[in-house]
Amino acid sequence: MTASPATPNSFTLRADGPLKGRVRVPGDKSISHRSLMLSALAVGRSEVLDLLEGEDVLATAAAMRAMGARIERLGDGHWAIDGVGVGSLLQPPAALDMGNSGTSTRLLMGLVATHPITATLVGDASLSRRPMGRVIEPLSRMGADIGASPGGRLPLMLRGAHLPLPISYRLPVASAQVKSAILLAGLNVQGETVVEEPVPTRDHSERMLKSFGADLSVEPLAGGGNRIRLRGWANLRSQRLLVPGDPSSAAFPLVAALLVPGSDVLIEGVGLNPTRDGLVRVLRAMGADIAFLNLREVGGEPVADLAVRHSALTGIEVPPDVAPSMIDEYPILFVAAALARGRTIMRGIEELRVKESDRIATMAAGLGAAGVRVEELPDGLIVDGSGGDPVPGGATVETRLDHRIAMSFAVLSLVARAAIKVDDRAPISTSFPDFLPLMARLGTRERGDA
Ligand code: S3P
Repeated sequence: MTASPATPNSFTLRADGPLKGRVRVPGDKSISHRSLMLSALAVGRSEVLDLLEGEDVLATAAAMRAMGARIERLGDGHWAIDGVGVGSLLQPPAALDMGNSGTSTRLLMGLVATHPITATLVGDASLSRRPMGRVIEPLSRMGADIGASPGGRLPLMLRGAHLPLPISYRLPVASAQVKSAILLAGLNVQGETVVEEPVPTRDHSERMLKSFGADLSVEPLAGGGNRIRLRGWANLRSQRLLVPGDPSSAAFPLVAALLVPGSDVLIEGVGLNPTRDGLVRVLRAMGADIAFLNLREVGGEPVADLAVRHSALTGIEVPPDVAPSMIDEYPILFVAAALARGRTIMRGIEELRVKESDRIATMAAGLGAAGVRVEELPDGLIVDGSGGDPVPGGATVETRLDHRIAMSFAVLSLVARAAIKVDDRAPISTSFPDFLPLMARLGTRERGDA
């Protein structure tokens, strides 16, 4: 995607004073993908409210349309989906373009794997570098025939099984995408599909499958984690779904409010599923003033308004077992650590190296360029914080087609002495198209605005 010539792709964000105000972040990306996929597999018309209208989710919508579902936008975030029923996905007439979206790719591979159709999946340069072997392996065991590019990457062609088999599979990596791919595949298999996750990962698929009427159970494993059983040949009933605000998007204004002196911000309707709330737990352990107001349930998920005030943070050693519940929030945690007093040590996060970019290397490079003292580890990062002083800045940082890197450095630029220029705003549209206008409502301005 390219911005118009009047809007340069690079940008710098500044705050002249405290951030103040009340904002609502867009719908949860993980839940939005799943709501479209399951609605497309249900019988009848489903409606989704507060769907995230970011490029990643739109890629999922386009793919489900190409496989037979009728999907209509009724208004802002309000979508209607006429499903085809489990087992009735149609062969897509052309390659499915997954853009930048790993979630669309891996979950759709699960859906196609057990339908007697063939699909070709392509993506952008970032997605084409990401490993798909982790889903190719279990889906092949279920009978899919998958021809991938070298290294198990996109583009790939997937021939779904005519007579798919149920499997019992223990996840070798803590990945909700792999878990979900297998469960979605299991919907169209006769018999019981079992997934064991030694470490709990986000459970939106399990919650939503149950609400659509699938026969699914979750039991704890003796050594930790869960065993999930799903009975196939499911009849999914159409639903009306409400998508809570995305905690992974809320993380950016939240950390901005913690770092900019004098800030006081309310972020409304943020999902606080216990498999997603790791960042808030870690920031509170570092001394962050974050209050949960108006705790409630939205679409089967716990939700609250977050009242966030500027706080003096202290570096900690982040326990590696919190990683799955905040895996997408490490880039912005690195930024928070850059302003903390003392050292923050984050280990056990090698998965960050296979996200939209290598997030350890990309963040280490940009933080280093902005004058933050960091040490890159094979499986993590150590950050020596400024104790609340602005960081030196005065650098251009690379986003490498990664939305969360772009937003993390935008937040860092609010607390830099000399400007930090983020080289590319385009990736932000994948998950948070309204990010810069939302930050402006809290009091930031793009350099050169005033
Ligand atoms: C996601 C799972 C996570 C996360 C991604 C969304 C999902 O990936 O990083 O942004 O919706 O299931 P992994 O499953 O690879 O950990």
